[in-house]
Amino acid sequence: MSFLSAEGVSHGYSPRRSLLRRRPAQPVLSEVSLEIEPGETLGLLGRSGCGKSTLARLLTGLETPSLGTVRFQGNALSSLDKPGWQAFRRQVQMVFQDPQNAVNPRLTVSDIISEPLIHLTDLDRAQQPARVAELLDAVGLARRFARRYPFELSGGQLQRVCIARALAPRPSLIVLDEAVSNLDLHLQLQMLELFTALQRDVGVAFLFVTHDLRLVERFCSRVLVMGAGRLVEDRPVTSPLTLTSPEGQALFQAVLPAFPVQMTSLRERLPLESVS
Ligand SMILES: Nc1ncnc2c1ncn2[C@@H]1O[C@H](COP(=O)(O)OP(=O)(O)OP(=O)(O)O)[C@@H](O)[C@H]1O
Ligand SMILES: [Mg+2]
Repeated sequence: MSFLSAEGVSHGYSPRRSLLRRRPAQPVLSEVSLEIEPGETLGLLGRSGCGKSTLARLLTGLETPSLGTVRFQGNALSSLDKPGWQAFRRQVQMVFQDPQNAVNPRLTVSDIISEPLIHLTDLDRAQQPARVAELLDAVGLARRFARRYPFELSGGQLQRVCIARALAPRPSLIVLDEAVSNLDLHLQLQMLELFTALQRDVGVAFLFVTHDLRLVERFCSRVLVMGAGRLVEDRPVTSPLTLTSPEGQALFQAVLPAFPVQMTSLRERLPLESVS
């Protein structure tokens, strides 16, 4: 039994209703099936608009597919009772591309990271500050950031807060939807180093949504390629990465920013620097 799976999932969005007739939903995903095993690092590659984020939202239960089934530990999400949802929410976390839209601007960093601790864990209030401090350490942010508000942080710092919040309930799977794309390359590699360490130490699985195949090559063990709402390729990641589908081949042509020379391999250990 897979940890998380999609079976024949299709989805679409309805355009605005016209006055005269209801227009059909525009298909975005067509019969997508996949399985994510415990502890694996799965890459999801595809060009902009092919449906990656839609699939990520369906897999994390933020949207319900028009057709097909998403299963968590064998159980359809649509059949989960309240404790089942609670377990799903704790075990499957997501980090979005844009951290500004993912946090409440009126909460401090400490409150943002504490939210899942309050709702999804048994930690009592007295234990929370220590866990928040531990999570700030883990993402390389100085502990004094706990008292700051989102507007006082850079985009990269705020994204680390979102990653800390995702780590807070000790999930089994983290879906990263272009979650490091807005960080500079140095920070991207630091975050990947952090994720690799987490995987080694606590066996967390990742679904890593990106358009940058170099990051897939460095971080993932298996990769899926999407083209226009369908999965077109599913293969183990090799070094160098090989993709044979036309959609995968096209990604090799994409112009990507250069990696810093001294960081061309994640195997070179990077110390996690604290941001002050
Ligand atoms: N809430 C929505 N309402 C209507 N259309 C949507 C909605 N969300 C996504 N779409 C459309 O669905 C298609 C797939 O979008 P999606 O965001 O899943 O693609 P993506 O692969 O994540 O793209 P990107 O790489 O740019 O993030 C696009 O054509 C998009 O315009
Ligand atoms: Mg997207």
